[in-house]
Amino acid sequence: ETSYCMMTADGAYLAHVYYGQRIRHSDLTYLLRLHDDILVPSECPEEKTGFFDKLPQEYPTNGRGDYREPCLALRGASGQIFPELTLKEWTIREEKRPLPGLPSTYGDHGQTLELALEDAVFGLAVTLCYTVYDDADVVIRSLRIRNEADAPLFLTRVLSACLELPDGSGQTLTFGGAWAREHIPVWREAGYGGTVSESLRGAPGHGGQPFIGFRYDNGSIYAMHLIYSGGNLAKHQQDEVADYRMVLGIHPETFEWKLEPGECFYAPEAVLVYSPEGTSGMTRILHDFYRSHLIRDVKKPRPILINNWEATYFDFDEERILSIAREAAKLGVELFVLDDGWFGEGRMEPSGDLGDWTASERKLPRGLKGLSEALLKLGLQLGLWFEPEMVSKDSKLFRTHPDWVLHQESRTPALCRDQWMLDLSNPDVLDYLFSGIAAAVREGHVRYLKWDMNRTITDAGSSYLPPDRQGEIFHRHVLGVYELQERLLHAFPELLIENCASGGARFDPGMLYYSPQIWCSDDMDVVERMKIHEGTAMLYPLSAIGAHVAKSPNDISGRYASFEARGISAMFGSFGYELDITALPEEERKMIPGQIARYKELRELIREGDYYNLLSLAENGRVQVYEVVSKDGADGFLVFQQVLSQPNGRRMPVCLRGLLPERSYILGGGQYFGEALMKAGCLMPYVRQDFYAEIIEFHAVPLT
Ligand code: DGJ
Repeated sequence: ETSYCMMTADGAYLAHVYYGQRIRHSDLTYLLRLHDDILVPSECPEEKTGFFDKLPQEYPTNGRGDYREPCLALRGASGQIFPELTLKEWTIREEKRPLPGLPSTYGDHGQTLELALEDAVFGLAVTLCYTVYDDADVVIRSLRIRNEADAPLFLTRVLSACLELPDGSGQTLTFGGAWAREHIPVWREAGYGGTVSESLRGAPGHGGQPFIGFRYDNGSIYAMHLIYSGGNLAKHQQDEVADYRMVLGIHPETFEWKLEPGECFYAPEAVLVYSPEGTSGMTRILHDFYRSHLIRDVKKPRPILINNWEATYFDFDEERILSIAREAAKLGVELFVLDDGWFGEGRMEPSGDLGDWTASERKLPRGLKGLSEALLKLGLQLGLWFEPEMVSKDSKLFRTHPDWVLHQESRTPALCRDQWMLDLSNPDVLDYLFSGIAAAVREGHVRYLKWDMNRTITDAGSSYLPPDRQGEIFHRHVLGVYELQERLLHAFPELLIENCASGGARFDPGMLYYSPQIWCSDDMDVVERMKIHEGTAMLYPLSAIGAHVAKSPNDISGRYASFEARGISAMFGSFGYELDITALPEEERKMIPGQIARYKELRELIREGDYYNLLSLAENGRVQVYEVVSKDGADGFLVFQQVLSQPNGRRMPVCLRGLLPERSYILGGGQYFGEALMKAGCLMPYVRQDFYAEIIEFHAVPLT
């Protein structure tokens, strides 16, 4: 339903003309206002600065008169730094090619437009790629840069996408947050000064979603989301004449890349979305797109799991694990995730053993094999926690290869959680990690791998890379993570990876390509999770959001909540438990089989349905209501979550979405027409109870 239009300005420069609602039969070149207010260089060479300053560009550079945010910057052999790109030729491929070493979207019905730009002074070939898929309202942008000169070039900035938008009032959307408060939407009035969202951590971090959006006051929204798991820069700026430029890509501050003659550099893909329906439309476009064109195996079975982290932390041994497992298996759980502390000498705190990926003899005397056999007898599969990118000083790995860590000569490292980061630019490190993890997966018949990352990059110095490639470390680290996950999935196609980073610090579209679910936050408190869930679900399908039922009072917030409310808080993601099931009161334990059955009943809808956020807790501070409805509009459910009860209140109507107006629906014991439910609304419960939650199913009455 969208059109994206560009043209060459003055016969050479690639200009952006239009992105928005589909326009079928029209020449839109008039929108560029070339001769109105821009003097073209061929007619007025002495005014080239003004031309670049106003031209809406597809892939801007600066130094020639465009003073807005550029996408590309480099340093040539002679020290020259300002490129000027002109269009050479273009082709259309009836396919979408994968990007070497990077996650990328896929699909049989993809068409890719490739625009070859060049800078003859630098000997630079820049190919901009735009992919569209028949069934998705998105444009995928990426690019490759080839050095066609006979000396190396140093790329110092390669952003993935730029979107030029006309003047008009509205708000920008970015995300912020911290540990236990991830992915909180942030709206700002757009204007001079602009909006920046960035992460310099080498990962998005808890608040640095690689995303930027802009919603005009008429409700239409433009958004860009980067398929990348490292540091990122997103910027929305207003230029002198009040038009907007939005750019997104790898953060240039922690990026440099030496490009030898004949070599290519590939920039990660950016997903561009336009929706006239605001965030609600954007959300459904992204959910559908990620489910069918990014997550590689969205239907991979997601066993109901129990994780021992909040039950035991580091304090466990095989017997303790099996005592929890026995109880869990009886209640219907399908997989046991053994979290941090099972390896090396069996650490009891976060300061040792990382890197030694063999089972601790003290904690697991029968090894992973013994544990997994015992679990299998109970009917449970084994899932295992790793933090592959890290090493503890107190480990065999560190003692054997002290040069395998990121460090700066003569400087005491800035550690975090007492751990060092491995140098993933070194292929020997990747081989060591792959063989260690693969051996553990084989020995323990591991079905699920939780890949954690509890600190971000400091002291980015590598003993492996030469001095003129030290600027590549941040990006090479991300490429190393991708390579390892790719190798593991290739070796173990059944393996389900759940990515995680100290909660949700690496919840991004790049990780989604390798793992269909990502741990969303360590915060499982019902109220905090509502906010985190609301922000995360604005971009990501529910089935991607790792969510567990935890103890009460909650370890992070200290808040009490009923077992029902905790169950509902976890059910609309990829579901599991994370508490000591042996210590649960009998009446709570008894609810578990029912919760599991309910989840199994709803999980196809959760995985495939359309999601509508009907009432936002962030906006009203009291209740959250969202809806999931099947694509055919016939079946669905509402999730009603109340944080604070309201004295002297009433049942309030909330309008549903996505139903069939002519059909009659059974909902909460009544029967209503779809049209009434969508236009007049469905009455929500009125309950005098804080932290109350309820699922309200609805089904269209079958046609006779
Ligand atoms: C952070 C994760 O988010 C937790 O779930 C847990 O795995 C700990 N790390 C273990 O160190």
